[in-house]
Amino acid sequence: MDIRSIRLEKKIKFSELADKVNIDHTELRKIERGFIEPTKEQFYTLSQALKVDSAVLISGHLNEINKIIPGEGYTTCQCGEERFLERSSPIAPDKIKVLDLFCGCGGLSYGFEQTDKFQITAGVDLLADRVESFHANHNTAIGVIGNIHEIDKDHLWELAGTPDILIGGPPCQGFSSIRPFRQLSENDKRNHLVEIYRDLVAEKRPRWFVMENVVGLLTHNKGKLLESLLDEYSSLGYSVSWTILNAANYGVPQNRERLFIVGNNANIRYSWPTPTHHAPHKSMGGKRFNRSNRLNLFSENLPKAITAYDAICDLPEIESGETADKYGTPKCTNEYTHKMRGKTNQLSLHSSTKHSEKMMDIIKHAGENRNSLPKDMTSSGFSSCYSRIDPDKPSVTLTVNFVHPASNKCIHPYQHRALTPREGARIQSFPDNYTFSGSKTQIVKQIGNAVPPLLAKAVALSIYEAEMQAQQI
Ligand SMILES: C[S@@+](CC[C@H](N)C(=O)[O-])C[C@H]1O[C@@H](n2cnc3c(N)ncnc32)[C@H](O)[C@@H]1O
Repeated sequence: MDIRSIRLEKKIKFSELADKVNIDHTELRKIERGFIEPTKEQFYTLSQALKVDSAVLISGHLNEINKIIPGEGYTTCQCGEERFLERSSPIAPDKIKVLDLFCGCGGLSYGFEQTDKFQITAGVDLLADRVESFHANHNTAIGVIGNIHEIDKDHLWELAGTPDILIGGPPCQGFSSIRPFRQLSENDKRNHLVEIYRDLVAEKRPRWFVMENVVGLLTHNKGKLLESLLDEYSSLGYSVSWTILNAANYGVPQNRERLFIVGNNANIRYSWPTPTHHAPHKSMGGKRFNRSNRLNLFSENLPKAITAYDAICDLPEIESGETADKYGTPKCTNEYTHKMRGKTNQLSLHSSTKHSEKMMDIIKHAGENRNSLPKDMTSSGFSSCYSRIDPDKPSVTLTVNFVHPASNKCIHPYQHRALTPREGARIQSFPDNYTFSGSKTQIVKQIGNAVPPLLAKAVALSIYEAEMQAQQI
């Protein structure tokens, strides 16, 4: 057993162990997750605190940690047997076939399918609940539960029916700007998943590829990683472009910037999707990117971006710890709420976290940022923690913890509680009939990690239009 499992089995709190062994919290967390190996002395003090023989602790921990591979967020997962979830409908012959690597719950895939031009033929993810969510919403796709490092790529390509497009968002925690262990970035195994994605393009040469990632990829290793990826794609014969897109410019009620790289090997001229909404927002892309970015130049005349409150205002009011499973009579509705609700009759996932008394006190004082709270109310956190969503603007970027007030600006604009998973799904533009599998914690992570389907749809349509234009020439 590894250190963390022994600690959990003995019901010892993380902070209690850290204090007992006198190891800094950050360091102990890295040790527990297998990012660093404890010294001999640390193994010894840990074994005393955990009341296990030190030789047993050393061999057990090292053994288990070697089997663990980084998943997403801060979760880790044991490598299991590969599993396949069969498609329930055949692939339509007239659709463009798409394989989604690192499919998560399927936000990126869903945007492609919503165009009616593309069909997802397979999706791969390490975590079973992700693939189950993906699979429940993509009936022409085979869901592959497995580790991309180990999957037989020829078999995968065959299962996906020789796809025309490879899409995917290799996990990004290695260079996410809100990742607590930034110093690990250079050697984080998850960074290499970007390269695995590239290798598959090199080996299989799909007509198009779309790689989505966090903006941090732009500056990772002083920009050298992005540069080398672009060079390699070019040398493989791809016309390749990259940019940063803000979801709020494409009808999503959220300022969420993501870096996209799109390439095709058919010499097709490609243009990024034209924004449909005006969303004044300071880009994380920095000066160099902003100077070259033309997408937002003429957006002032467009409709204003959808606000966070526009996205959730029709959902019933609930208190901390409550659940509502009926829509009831809405306080307000608008085009966006109608679009999200569609024909769904049964409300799901509108269940609020039960906050402690202390947290309720914080929430009642919460405002624009942490400075709105009385000084001694919280001891640490970014300025956007413990703060309310601005109802009149698109939400800030949703995290994988948006049901906890300590996370980035995720307290309801007017109610005394954090967002519910349903509200998070709305802010990410998942319609109410999108099915999610797994525990509430995992569903929140799936939602928070996804590419907003409406943003994905805009990208998918831009590829389709480029294809159509090329055919007319
Ligand atoms: C950012 S999320 C993808 C979100 C997805 N594109 C969407 O729009 O919903 C990255 C995914 O990569 C998966 N992943 C991480 N390591 C992996 C590995 N070694 N093999 C396969 N999938 C992996 C994670 O489980 C996670 O679901």
